[in-house]
Amino acid sequence: MKVLGLVIGRRNETGEYIAKTALLGAQEAGCEVELINLRQLTIKPCIECNQCQDPPLAYNGQCTMKDDFQWLDDKILDSDGIIIVLPSYEKTIPSDFKALMDRTGPNHDITIREVFAKRRKEENIQDGRSIDERSFKRRPVAFIGHGGSDWCSLNLPLQKLWAIPMGFHIVDEKYYKWNVMLRTEDDKLAEIRACGKHVGECVMNGTAEYVGPKGICPCCHAEEFKINDLATGAIECLICGMPGKLESDGKGGLTPVFNEEDKKHSLITDEGRLQHLKDMLATGMKLRNLDRTEMDARNEAMKSVLVPSKPEK
Ligand SMILES: Cc1cc2nc3c(=O)[nH]c(=O)nc-3n(C[C@H](O)[C@H](O)[C@H](O)COP(=O)(O)O)c2cc1C
Repeated sequence: MKVLGLVIGRRNETGEYIAKTALLGAQEAGCEVELINLRQLTIKPCIECNQCQDPPLAYNGQCTMKDDFQWLDDKILDSDGIIIVLPSYEKTIPSDFKALMDRTGPNHDITIREVFAKRRKEENIQDGRSIDERSFKRRPVAFIGHGGSDWCSLNLPLQKLWAIPMGFHIVDEKYYKWNVMLRTEDDKLAEIRACGKHVGECVMNGTAEYVGPKGICPCCHAEEFKINDLATGAIECLICGMPGKLESDGKGGLTPVFNEEDKKHSLITDEGRLQHLKDMLATGMKLRNLDRTEMDARNEAMKSVLVPSKPEK
């Protein structure tokens, strides 16, 4: 059983120290561990070539861009649990991680993969490609964020967004502000080690208990919500899409209220992801049947209006 630590940061600096501390915890729980610093890899941004779903009905999910992604993807698929450690860059995540997020985007969505693996089997598609069975493992994953100041509002939410389409089980999340002396703060290091140990124990016991802060969203524990309608108080979790409502708490304040039934709209659930896939397929069918003559003519005319500038090579 293996726990993989994925870190982004400078070699031998805070992020690596945190990741190694957490992995030692996973090792204590009985897991094999491995550390990868994404800074040492080349993961180019997704260019939407759509080769991973070409032809659409023979979707295989494999990325055809040539860089270190295939190697990393194999490591991720081979793991039984994952610990992510990311610094805050501009209150969010480093762009290297966003590139990974896009490369493991729709083509790694567990529900899309399940539906199309079934279809490929039923239709006996023999094109020499296949959907990797290891994609269907529901791995436990923990997220640790850190940064040099208290600018961090979108770090953990964006980290968590990575795990949701792939159906990973989020089991813990931690954030460390003002991290300059973190490597000497034994209470925090003990917490980080315990976080890693919890991931290891989940892997060893086949469990996925969430032990992080409760947050607001009952599905993904996020605190980031959007107010959809001030008149009705309708709200929506920005991370997993769980709908809810702000109601009066009877003491002059507001309280978020959620329906058990609405959990099927959260992308953290199989039902939510399946609905999203159905919506995309329905839109795809509509687009295929549209008369594109007018749009194609306008597009053709726009082509010569401005050509994007780029440096001479
Ligand atoms: C481009 C850039 C943006 C940064 N933005 C933030 C930020 O918004 N909030 C913060 O707390 N730290 C910020 N930092 C500081 C890093 O989070 C901090 O140095 C961290 O320790 C880097 O990880 P490492 O030590 O593993 O390399 C930024 C650093 C860089 C290079």
